[in-house]
Order: sequence, then C-alpha cells, then structure tokens
Amino acid sequence: MDDTTTLAKVTSTELTAPRETREQLADDLVAALDEGRSMPPMHLYDAHGSALFERITQVAEYYLTGAEAEILAREADAIVAAVRPHEIVELGSGSSIKTGALLTAMQQAGTGQRYAALDVSTAALDEAAERLAREHPQLWIDNYTGDFHTDLKHVPRSGTRLLLFLGSTLGNMRPTERRSLLRAAAETLRPGDAFLIGLDLVKDLDVLLPAYDDAEGVAAAFGLNLLRVIDRELDADIPLEAFRYEAVWDPGEECVEMRLVAIRDVTATVGALDRTITFAAGDHLVTEHSYKFRPERFATELASLGLAIETVHTDSNELFAAVLVRPDAD
Ligand code: AVJ
Repeated sequence: MDDTTTLAKVTSTELTAPRETREQLADDLVAALDEGRSMPPMHLYDAHGSALFERITQVAEYYLTGAEAEILAREADAIVAAVRPHEIVELGSGSSIKTGALLTAMQQAGTGQRYAALDVSTAALDEAAERLAREHPQLWIDNYTGDFHTDLKHVPRSGTRLLLFLGSTLGNMRPTERRSLLRAAAETLRPGDAFLIGLDLVKDLDVLLPAYDDAEGVAAAFGLNLLRVIDRELDADIPLEAFRYEAVWDPGEECVEMRLVAIRDVTATVGALDRTITFAAGDHLVTEHSYKFRPERFATELASLGLAIETVHTDSNELFAAVLVRPDAD
C-alpha cells in the first residue's frame, strides 16, 4: 500500500434529498395492493438485500456479471480510443467494481481523469470512492447522491463525456420508464459524447431462468427479503413462510417477472398503514421485472430518441451486450 495516497480528490454532493424510504415504501405498498400487485425493485436493496444481490452476482447460474466484466476487460481500450473521454459519468454506479477497466483505460490513454457517479445510495458511493481512490490515485471522483431519472442534468460536465449505464439495470424498468430514462440521458449528450449501456440479451430459457432461480436459493432469498423489509419498516407481520418465490418468463414483454406467491390464505396487519391486508392462496406480489433485449429492436427504440448504436460488444457466449451509443448529429 502506498502511504502517500490521499483521498483528497473525492467530492460528494446531494442533488435530491432522498425521499424518506419508509414513506415511499408505504406509498408503493398501498399502490401495489390496490392496483398492480407490483413493487418497485428499489425496496429490495436494504443492507441485507444488497448483500444478497452481491451473492447473486457470484452464483454459477447468474451469468450477467461475469459476461459484462469479460466485455469491459476486453473492450475498455477500444471504447476509450473511440470516444477519447475527458470524463466518465456513471448512472446507478453501486459498487463501481466493473467500471475499473474503463477508468484504467481512460487514464492510460491520457484523455481525462474525472469520474462522476450518480446513485441513490450515499453509502454505496462513499464505499466505492474509497476503493477507487486507492486503486486510481490520480482520479478526481465526484459523487452525486440522487435519482438518475431526474438528476443527471445537474451533474456538471468537464468535457467529452462517456456516460455509463451498466449491469442491465435498464432491464429493471418497464418500457415507459425506460424511455423516459433514455430521453433524459439523450438530452445531456453533446456531439462527441457516447453512452455505454449494458444489456442482457434474449436467450434460451434454459440459461435465462436459472439465473433468476438458482439452485442455492439466493435469488429466492433476495425476493423474499422484500417481505422482511415491509415487516420491519412498516411494522407488519406478513409471514415469510406463507410465500414462495418464482421467476416466470413473459414471452410478450420479453421479461422475467419475479413474484412472491401465497401458498395459503394470508391475513396480516401493516401497523404503519393501519390496515389489514389479505392474500388468497395463489395471489402474488411482483418484486421485480428484468427485461431482456435484442440489439436490433433496441436500436429502433433509440432512433426515436435521436440516438444511434455505433458498436455492439458481446461476450464470447453472446449472453450479454455492451452497446456504445451516440447522439445523432443535428
Ligand atoms: C440489477 C436489475 C440487473 O435483473 O438481473 C438479479 C437484479 N434480481 N436477480 C437483474 C436481479 C434478481 C438484476 N439487475
């Protein structure tokens, strides 16, 4: 370890005070019970859920993380050579682990040394910055706590930008939400900038579904953790053992729908809502959608937003893609 390493080049800015998560959870649960029986995935990521997600990325069946890491390790230099970024800005950066290859490539090419990360979790940003500052002592790291749907436009720019949205996080969004995220990103791109998006590809269900229902039961534990979060945060008594987890392919939407299904009739109270909730045996609560992509179709979606795919990089098994996107010249 180099003792002269300093952490002086890290800044932290809060763009949106994150709305009380508990308040949001209560509103989302009411909406789920009254309407769609579907919850936004953000509530899955309390400390326990975040640890479970990290474990998911390491189970054998969950091919996404390894496939994307393979692409970034192999293509980082080529991507940096094509874009010559002055800065790398990452949406939903989380642990920033896969970003390392691109940061190293940018610094080796000598085109820039700024990394800005925008994430909902200040804790995740702080932890990632500490590690990145050690591994990349020359880097300027600007952390922004906020919502990537609304706050990207408030991240100041310092020159040609390589914007990142990795991990197929885009796949968690339903088409309408996805479109608004892509539009917001497009509005920040200038000529010469580029947008690198990680996309999990449509594939054989024999490969796809086990990633969301692994033999060890980590994906199931991750989904069921939503009930624990609700029980703890909203003073509820939903019995975990009354639900089973399932991951189902929706061929029309081309997404995996993850659900908790009641295995018997369930009545529970939610103290914070002052309300009794019921599930009949077979009723379900959707914890998450994970959309899968076809690059040709995605290109059409991008075109309507003034964006074009320059390169599609895939891993050796063609499971995952990192697409390099450019704003149309106009
Ligand atoms: C974080 C959205 C990429 O959809 O693959 C993994 C989340 N959920 N297993 C995904 C997740 C259950 C993951 N993303």
